[in-house]
Amino acid sequence: MANVAVIGAQWGDEGKGKVVDWLASRADVVVRFQGGHNAGHTLVVGNQTYKLSLLPSGVVRGKLGVIGNGVVLDPDALLSEISRVRGQGLDVGPHNLRIAENVPLILPLHPAIDKAREEARGEAKIGTTGRGIGPAYEDKVARRAIRLCDLAEPETLSAKLDELLLHHNTLLKGLGAATFEKQELLDKLVALAPKLLPYAEAVWERLDEARHGNKRVLFEGAQAVMLDVDHGTYPFVTSSNTVAGNAAAGAGIGPHGIGTVLGIAKAYTTRVGSGPFPTELFDDVGKRLGERGREFGTVTGRPRRCGWFDACLVRQAVKVGGIQGLALTKLDVLDGLEELKICTGYRIEGEVVKRLPAALGAQAKAEPIYETLEGWTQSTQGARSWAELPATAIKYVKRIEELVEAPVTLLSTSPERDDTILVSDPFAG
Ligand code: IMP
Repeated sequence: MANVAVIGAQWGDEGKGKVVDWLASRADVVVRFQGGHNAGHTLVVGNQTYKLSLLPSGVVRGKLGVIGNGVVLDPDALLSEISRVRGQGLDVGPHNLRIAENVPLILPLHPAIDKAREEARGEAKIGTTGRGIGPAYEDKVARRAIRLCDLAEPETLSAKLDELLLHHNTLLKGLGAATFEKQELLDKLVALAPKLLPYAEAVWERLDEARHGNKRVLFEGAQAVMLDVDHGTYPFVTSSNTVAGNAAAGAGIGPHGIGTVLGIAKAYTTRVGSGPFPTELFDDVGKRLGERGREFGTVTGRPRRCGWFDACLVRQAVKVGGIQGLALTKLDVLDGLEELKICTGYRIEGEVVKRLPAALGAQAKAEPIYETLEGWTQSTQGARSWAELPATAIKYVKRIEELVEAPVTLLSTSPERDDTILVSDPFAG
């Protein structure tokens, strides 16, 4: 079975949408295995732009979409996304979208807690998307989450809501926020049941069938390795494991089913939300990257922080994320810059290190060590072969390969799906 997992190698927004869409057209099944509607994938297909948050990108290509148990699912967000894409002419329904029956749900109290806590943090805020992702994962791990399958059992729901509200209303009161009524939530969930249950199943069985039927499965990661709850810049991270290893647990397949792991990285670096960012630029170059790269969050519309390519960080993502090949995106955004810098390591209190340390204090002290490369004046936008790239652009890509210790297997030169230089086929294994 030739499967592929795609994960972000920086802090998210690497342009996974386009690469995933490109790969989805060659897959049979596309699976989301972590995150929720904090993710935002923009797919440009012909003259249509699809903005997906929860739906696996495969639905745009008419493939079977699966939402795995590792996701946290907001029913309202899902239903409104389905009706939005249906309005754009896509066919989405229980026949081509299956959702793990054991997926935990995001309820209205989760974004309420998320926002109240962020407010209470003040200056120290994480900069979450405010969608309730963290609180929903907390409930899952604390064993009090309401899961999709519970919608079929009103008595189970009632007892679980008692436990949930005991916890959350106490917390909300303490934070000075409005509390929630049990009956209102119960009525809401009972009303949602007939709309959501037709999608529910044991998706692990379907994936097992796919495995035996030699189908191609694409695991679509959300966020990125540096936002991983274990391996990222904690606590400025999301609340799930974003590394490829989690595709197995988050979908219900064994680790051998994941297949080739493709990491996506921008040819520079961006980040939304708070947290360390050693190569962040506060000058005109940073502004230019943001403008040329149209760096605004898909989900929240927030401007993204921009900086030079951090090879030290991506190398770390390659190692902990299990990345075997790198798709480099938005190379064209660098067009016209006289010189380019790549971070090769950090200096911390005089000592040179080749990894971002885990401790917050040490991260704040990390000064990037740069290597300077010559830029290019020609446009690389829309290039579809190496021959169309200036020699200095090829040199830049080759240097990145060396520094991150992974081959660049795909190069993207515009938002258009076909403006891609393929070096090797990830589905070939
Ligand atoms: P949360 O996932 O909403 O809890 O947010 C935690 C951190 O992850 C914040 O810094 C968010 O900006 C960031 N984040 C969450 N989802 C994405 C994404 O899809 N792209 C980029 N950053 C994200």
